[in-house]
Parts: sequence; structure tokens; C-alpha cells
Amino acid sequence: HDERLTLVVFGASGDLAKKKTYPAIFDLFRVGALPRLTIVCGYARSKMSDDEFRSRIHEYLQDKGSEEELERFLDICIYRSGQYDGIEEFKETSAELRALHECKDDQEVENRMYYLAIPPNQFLNTIKTTREGGMSETGWTRVVVEKPFGHDTESAKKLGDDIGQYFDESHLYRIDHYLGKEMVQNLVTLRFGNAFLEPLFNRDHVKSVIISFKEPFGTEGRGGYFDSYGIIRDVMQNHLMQLLSIIAMEPPVKVAGTTKDGTDYSRFVRDEKVKVLAAVKPWSLDDVVLGQYVSNGDKPGYLDDETVPEGSNQPTYAAVRMFIHNKRWDGVPFIMKAGKALDEKKCEVRFQFRDPAGAAAMFGESRIPRNELVLRLQPQESIYMKLNVKKPGLATSMVQSSLDLDYTDRYDDHQIPEAYTRLLLDVLRGKQATFVRDDELLAAWEIVTPLLEEIESGGVKPIPYEYGSRGPAEADELVKESGYVRNAAY
Ligand code: BG6
Repeated sequence: HDERLTLVVFGASGDLAKKKTYPAIFDLFRVGALPRLTIVCGYARSKMSDDEFRSRIHEYLQDKGSEEELERFLDICIYRSGQYDGIEEFKETSAELRALHECKDDQEVENRMYYLAIPPNQFLNTIKTTREGGMSETGWTRVVVEKPFGHDTESAKKLGDDIGQYFDESHLYRIDHYLGKEMVQNLVTLRFGNAFLEPLFNRDHVKSVIISFKEPFGTEGRGGYFDSYGIIRDVMQNHLMQLLSIIAMEPPVKVAGTTKDGTDYSRFVRDEKVKVLAAVKPWSLDDVVLGQYVSNGDKPGYLDDETVPEGSNQPTYAAVRMFIHNKRWDGVPFIMKAGKALDEKKCEVRFQFRDPAGAAAMFGESRIPRNELVLRLQPQESIYMKLNVKKPGLATSMVQSSLDLDYTDRYDDHQIPEAYTRLLLDVLRGKQATFVRDDELLAAWEIVTPLLEEIESGGVKPIPYEYGSRGPAEADELVKESGYVRNAAY
């Protein structure tokens, strides 16, 4: 018997479903990664016929594949409307889905994947509806959930406990789309698969590490949402903290294949990640620079966004210095910077290495440029190393050069899938390594919550920076104080 797949998208008429979920499902369909017998059922409150819904998805997907592929995909898409807390209604939909699959007897396996692309206030209702009205009777049931996973440690714990009444960890796939990015997936290979890099990732060789996230646009109408979260919750507690845990973790026992007991290797990766987070002290105002963008005359400031409450002190920029208190990283500053409305779009991780002992004296210099290894997540994935060479030609002086692996030059575009596509494939395969486990989530909240409370107690005013600038100059000071030397400064 062929296995059947039923994929239900809750919140199918919303923005996330439109921009991310359906395009990812379509991608998987196009490359033949969905089982032959798949039904994709959109579910939301608004009433719509299958055909109306199909013409909507057609719109979202029309530039993502050929018309022929799209038509074939739309054939497996249906839409049902109902309340998110409508357990009885959903039971009917559930039975109908099984009937549509023509599952005649219990021998036929029908797997269920639920994707919750819904607002946080409907979250728990939907979880309950899924559990009580939609469990697969003959195969697996997997539930994909999206942030926000709480607001601080306490609310995240409560949400976790509430969800835990319905699903255990093995059913839950908490998406952090950064874990699906090519360069993030590459980190483990790069760190542990290279003899000339692996021995260097520790306090003996690394001077400082900078994780930075920059966006060249402000909240642009999304200010209502943003203002209740702020930059720390929006990208640091989740995306950047996930990056931190992977660049700093110890080697997992296994990252592929099966384990001795026949289970998936995911726990090994997640065990190592959570240990890193547990070794980071909660952030404090002493090690933080906060900023908020203001108009540059042309583009509006944060407070000019009509959806932002008047006089809000919510930071749109933060730079934080932290240490990982363990044997490998003790004393090495890790700096995390993130901001909206800056001068460029970029996300990268930068390791700066210590000076080679004795080299400056040997070359008759007061100092020589520092080696760096940079992993650029976006735009245009690349890995480059800054290394010192003799200036080519008759001169004997040293110059810094760059060994560059630019993915756009080296590989075809289509070899790099969208993060969501890859992550949904992992769900189908039951691989949880690229999803956030409950203890990781809480460990990340514990790091940021005390600072968030301090900020939100009202006394902290972010430093203004101009739209389109590099962010507050104080952040550059923090980086400099931490021992990082900008090589251009030599
Ligand atoms: C989201 C944040 O989680 O990540 C957004 O809510 C942010 O504010 C986005 O823009 C960044 O994702 P990406 O993939 O564009 O870097």
C-alpha cells in the first residue's frame, strides 16, 4: 500500500500561508517530495469554495512554477472553513479527508501533518482541535508551529505546559526558519568537517565572535506587531540565539543516519545546543546598546509609523555582549547585533582570531591584520577567510587578502532551497534536529527575559539612530571594547 499524506494548513487565508507555507508545499510537490497520494487542505474561518481558494493560491504561486505544475498542484488542494475551536466540525472534516483518500480499511496508512499559520490567540484552541478531532488513526501526526512561542520565560513555560496536555515533544515541530537556511545547515559541516578549522574554534584561537543581522527597512505598517515584541524578541531570542548555539556547540555524537537504538539523531544536536544556552548568563543593561530609528528626512522614523503607539521606547536595534561560560569559550566575547532600518541587508557570523604569537615583531610591525572567518547567510551565501599574504610584486610588506567561496559563483541558484521548503521536508521525514526543542526555547528565553523586564519597566530610552545608518555609534564602541579590531583600521 502507498502511504497517504494529509497536510492541513490552519490559517490558510493568512499572510504566512500565502508567503511561506503554500510556496514551500508547492516546491516540495514540484520536486516530487510529496507522496503520490497527498491532499493539502487549507482551513480557516472565512467561507470560501474550493475553487475560490484555488484561484487565490494560484495568485500566490504563479511565478513559482509552470502553469502545468500549478494546475496539477491545485488538483490536490482543497479548502474547508470552520472555527479553530470547533472540535466537532473538525472531526467531520477529518473523516471527510480520510474518505477522500479512499482509505477503505485500517491497513491503509494515512499520515497527518498540521501546519499552524495562525495568530497566537488561536494557538491553543487549534492545538486542542487537532488533538481531539484530527489525529491520524493509522499513521503519524506531526504538528508544525510558528513563533511567537510566548513573550518571556514565564509565558513560554505556560504555553509549553498547555500544549503538553495535548501533544508530547515527538509530535511538535517548532519552526525557526533560520535553521533551514543553507549557511546555517552548513555550520556543522564547516566546523566539524575540516581539519584546518576544527581545532581553532575555541578560546585559545578565537579572539571574538560577532553575529550580526541588518535590515534596510523599518516596520513599515507592521509596527503594531513589532511594538509588542521589539528587536530582541523578533530576531535575537530566536534566530540569532539558534545561530549562537550552533556555532558554539560541542560536536554532536551524530548528525546523520540512525542511532544505535534505531531512533533519529536529532536529540544529539539539540542536547549540545541547549548546553551552550545554559552556559550564557542572562543579558544585562551593562552589556547592551539599544537604539530606535528616527527619520533621516526622507524615510520615516519608528515613531512616525502610525501603527506604533506614541512615545514608544521599544528598541529597533540592539547590540549585546555575552560570554559562554564553559571550557571551550570562557573569556571570548560573543557580540550579537540586530537592527531594522539600517544601511544594508546582511546577516553574518564573523570569527576574529588571535594574533599569531611573535608575528608582529618578526615582521617589524606594531601589529598585523587579524585573520577572520566570515560566514555570510544572506544576501548571497558565502564563506570567506581574511588571511595575510606578502604584497604581490617587489614589495615585501604584508597585506590582507581574502579567500572567497561565493555560493552564487560556485553553485547554481536552484541548489539552494528556501528555508521553509527544506524544513517542511524534514517534517515529512520526521527529522526534528532542525526544530527547536522546548528546553532550548526556555533556555533562550531565560537569557533575554531579565533584560526585557528592565527595558519594559519603562526607564530605558533607546539611542536614536538615523534610518539608513549603521546604527548607534555606541554599538561600535561596545565591539571595539570587546577587543575586536576592524581590519580596515590598520
Ligand atoms: C522574522 C521577523 O522572524 O524574520 C522579521 O519577524 C524579520 O522581522 C525576518 O524580517 C527575517 O527573516 P529573513 O529570512 O528575511 O532574514
